[in-house]
Amino acid sequence: MRVYSKRAKRMQGTTGVPGDKSISHRALLFSALSENGSLVRNLGPGQDVRSTAECLRRVGVEIVPEGEATRVRGVGLSGLRPPVKELDCGNSGTTMRLLSGVIAGARVGGHLTGDASLSKRPMKRVLEPLRQMGAVAKGQRNERGDEVAPLDIEAGHPLKGVRHELQVASAQVKSCLLLAGLFAEGETTVREPESSRDHTERMLRALGAPLSFGMDGAVAVHRPERPLVAPEELWVPGDPSSAAFLVAAGLIVPGARTELVNVDVNPTRIGFLRVLQRMGADIEVVSSGERAGDPVATLHARGDATLRATDIGAGEVPSLLDELPILAVVASQAQGTTTVSGASELRVKESDRIVQMVKGLRAMGANIEERPDGFVVHGPCALRGAGIDAAGDHRIAMSFAVAGLCADGETQVEGAEWADISYPGFFRLLASWSEDAIRLG
Ligand code: S3P
Repeated sequence: MRVYSKRAKRMQGTTGVPGDKSISHRALLFSALSENGSLVRNLGPGQDVRSTAECLRRVGVEIVPEGEATRVRGVGLSGLRPPVKELDCGNSGTTMRLLSGVIAGARVGGHLTGDASLSKRPMKRVLEPLRQMGAVAKGQRNERGDEVAPLDIEAGHPLKGVRHELQVASAQVKSCLLLAGLFAEGETTVREPESSRDHTERMLRALGAPLSFGMDGAVAVHRPERPLVAPEELWVPGDPSSAAFLVAAGLIVPGARTELVNVDVNPTRIGFLRVLQRMGADIEVVSSGERAGDPVATLHARGDATLRATDIGAGEVPSLLDELPILAVVASQAQGTTTVSGASELRVKESDRIVQMVKGLRAMGANIEERPDGFVVHGPCALRGAGIDAAGDHRIAMSFAVAGLCADGETQVEGAEWADISYPGFFRLLASWSEDAIRLG
């Protein structure tokens, strides 16, 4: 499917964004591991979250719709069953990495598969530390000496706690190991070079898991003495990574006004808001309380301010990792040179996002250079419509549809259906906010 995008004369709207993808995966997984389960409201509607739900069903967890919400029946830490079939994680790295920790810890075994994109992504970063803990787990060797899906985790091997020093900050790897640590004998500790998103820590703690935090930023867990207890209802806050596209649309179209309600503003997730404010963007963040233990807010973006370039370095990257593609689009409209460094993790996401953003924005006439660990954009750039390939990546598809809103001529993005991974209905919404500057074909 293609999405066509052209210069928007208008951009105005207000919406709640879908439930946060990261929190949704965890709401399903952690409720399943609790003794009582939970009623999850505002679960992310994307395909990735469905992959987690389907895999959990295959290890014996009942997950059923209840009105607009989702009922997860808890089985406790010892209630998972060996999977009836392979565990198909689809396009979802979070599903594969977090589930690996659970499957290894619960000793039920499993064969984890993924689509073409997921089957290229590095998995040694979870397999190696799980092996150190005693798991018998392997992937397929690839040409870079890494291991990739399909992964095989053998049943029946007990784990022991280990201290892990991660080479790169990764919430997925950290969460995998903390989950495995819930089942292990002794203490499991994880330390990252920079702090990644902390949803696992916050949510597991709320369920009564014995987590502790070191002065050096490390987090430790051991097997709980009492069963985990989930909140009766868990209301997933809006996804800031999805909101970022609508914030950007509200900044790059002159005169635009966009408003996003109930968006998660956990500090480990909103580096993009801090960067945009530094760039001079007219953004207001109005606090509206708390959901699932995270602060939430209404975001107001207005397209009247002149944007200035900025520098984004390694320390800031984990807090805006998934937003860098759309930030590249915004940077193309800012005055001056924006540099992004310390972001080589972008190369191993759903696509090589450095390559795809540089290639696509260049095709649209932007002055952008690739760096091994990021990119450099010289703005402001007069963009023109071009043919873009989403490269099997939801965030690339959405970024270029938004870029087309401030370009001359028509931008055609091939692979529009990939947006369903995180934000089904995104293009229809943007069409209605822009008097059809966006259309699907
Ligand atoms: C996620 C962590 C991030 C992010 C991904 C979701 C998570 O990856 O890019 O989209 O839910 O834990 P890292 O593992 O690189 O932090």
